[in-house]
Amino acid sequence: KDTNLDPIPVKIGIIGGSGLDDPDILEQRKEKIVETPYGAPSDSLIEGEIGGVQCVLLARHGRKHDIMPSNVNYRANIWALRQVGCTHLIVSTACGSLRESIKPGNLVVPHDFIDRTTKRMQTFYDGQHAGMTGVCHLPMYPAFSERTRKVLLDAAKELEYDAHDKATIVTIEGPRFSSRSESNMFRQWGGDLINMTTCPEVVLAKEAGLLYGSVAIATDYDCWRMGCEGVNVQDVLKTFAENVTKVKKILVNAVGRIAKEDWSEDILNAKQCVCNNTMSGAM
Ligand code: ADE
Repeated sequence: KDTNLDPIPVKIGIIGGSGLDDPDILEQRKEKIVETPYGAPSDSLIEGEIGGVQCVLLARHGRKHDIMPSNVNYRANIWALRQVGCTHLIVSTACGSLRESIKPGNLVVPHDFIDRTTKRMQTFYDGQHAGMTGVCHLPMYPAFSERTRKVLLDAAKELEYDAHDKATIVTIEGPRFSSRSESNMFRQWGGDLINMTTCPEVVLAKEAGLLYGSVAIATDYDCWRMGCEGVNVQDVLKTFAENVTKVKKILVNAVGRIAKEDWSEDILNAKQCVCNNTMSGAM
């Protein structure tokens, strides 16, 4: 047998959003404090296994949930997960819904984004880090790993949870929620969901060559809906808490599915895409 054809082993990073930062889903947990060339991640990494598959958990907002979306060091988070050998990132996020058909409590696996953030570093290739020379102009179609999305949707299906199979997610800078006019504008733009963290996380994951998929929980209707009160934090937290077990189960199920497949080609293609779109300056 040609050993060159052995599949590349997978390791799965899990970034928990608000409410999904408890490490209970991992067996044989070991806490690992890491530093990266881009600074410190939001918290220590929790390495462990889910059903025998290597996984790493990171709480996006820190375990005390005290880092607001603009202050999350997204570059350090993604770099740390890459540094410990992750091939995939599956994440959770609380979102507002911009569509009548996506009801609070619904699960969604987004396929695209609209970036309305203003204060966040979006590249590792910033000319200040050794080994990251050149300028990277990464294509954002497709934004998410299509195959990882499919795994998340298949996991939801097996668990008999209805999950919307695509959505464009608008990421705002925050920390404030949107005005009603903004909310209506995002709807006209084709936004289906709204949150504060998908950008630049999905962008940096792609730049790191990681296969990224997200499970969103719609927690509210933002504030576009006539005759309704707007979004507020209490409702977001309540709806998230009511549905977070579903997300955990989807992530655990997805880990098993990912580990059963051969991802070598996708992993190599993701890394090749970064190389192909980084201009060395020497050319
Ligand atoms: N997170 C949860 N609900 C949200 C909303 N309506 N806008 C932005 N981020 C959110």
